[in-house]
Amino acid sequence: MNDFLPLQGTDYVEFYVGNAKQASHYYMTAFGFQPLAYAGPETGLRDRLSFVVNQQKLTFVFTASLRQGTPIAEHVSKHGDGVKVLALRVDDATSAWKETTSRGGKSSMEPKVLKDEHGEFVISGIHTYGEVEHHFIERKNYHGAFMPGYQPWRKTDFKTESTGLMYVDHCVGNVGWNQMNPWVSFYENVMGFRNILSFDDKDISTEYSALMSKVMSNGNGYVKFPINEPAEGKKKSQVEEFLEFYQGEGVQHVALATSDIVHTVTELKSRGVEFLQVPDSYYNDLLDRVGKIDEDLAPLRKLGILVDRDDEGYLLQLFSKPIQDRPTMFFEIIQRKGAKSFGKGNFKALFEAIEREQEKRGNL
Ligand code: FE2
Repeated sequence: MNDFLPLQGTDYVEFYVGNAKQASHYYMTAFGFQPLAYAGPETGLRDRLSFVVNQQKLTFVFTASLRQGTPIAEHVSKHGDGVKVLALRVDDATSAWKETTSRGGKSSMEPKVLKDEHGEFVISGIHTYGEVEHHFIERKNYHGAFMPGYQPWRKTDFKTESTGLMYVDHCVGNVGWNQMNPWVSFYENVMGFRNILSFDDKDISTEYSALMSKVMSNGNGYVKFPINEPAEGKKKSQVEEFLEFYQGEGVQHVALATSDIVHTVTELKSRGVEFLQVPDSYYNDLLDRVGKIDEDLAPLRKLGILVDRDDEGYLLQLFSKPIQDRPTMFFEIIQRKGAKSFGKGNFKALFEAIEREQEKRGNL
């Protein structure tokens, strides 16, 4: 079937934050990103600035307001730090905008051609759940570091080593009660995605709380967006806690891929990134559940890395604690060894670990 929105993958993730200088430094020191580009008053912006960092195919942008009352300041005041843009790489950003807006997508940015001495760059955008936007990025005729308007950002005395993070595996959105199916339809109808997996409250429920989830994927599988909504449980679910503290729908977690999770998580932990901890008993019957794996059990147990298997192989994964003050966004670190699924076998142990954290915060 003809894919009306061919996507080449995630181009970048842009966060609106209270302090972009310090946020970008945290991602460099703790996650091993390298400085890439900068825009701010020195490049002609009057009311905001952005620091751009990258690591292999991952690019993160941290944007903050320099003034009160701007849309960025309002966003940070309402949501705290969070994801504003999930930017997708396309061959033709004008066509991407036309195809999606003609199918009901709400425009956030008409196609714009930006030029500098490094070539021509085209960007457009549409709104998705909450205040999140998808930007379509066409950079095939552009050879600069990031995009026109940004200057290269280098640091001479500061060095930070990579942690082995490679690319965005998937980005999960939390939406409100009864909003999962409308957003599933949005991704199907407006963006040509399909629903590849579904989890109901029987799959994802602990003694206390529940959620439902549907995984949306684009045609070539490079872009995957699971959508969660809360389900009725005895106590407040993690999605409800997110919706309360984020003051609405938004990106719950971004999964970052590595080809050596033991190395990556060892590095992240030694640099201060905190992860959810499952009980040690999780490892007692792990190999009975998932069968033979290439990794030694001892380092997985020591680092708290989870394992799950599906028909095609297995995966190793681990979830960070929230990475800003509010109990909202977090990261997943994932290494796939054939498996294309999302760790359903770990849901119960994982959600119980999340609930223990919610309990500590008084939010269960
Ligand atoms: Fe995930």
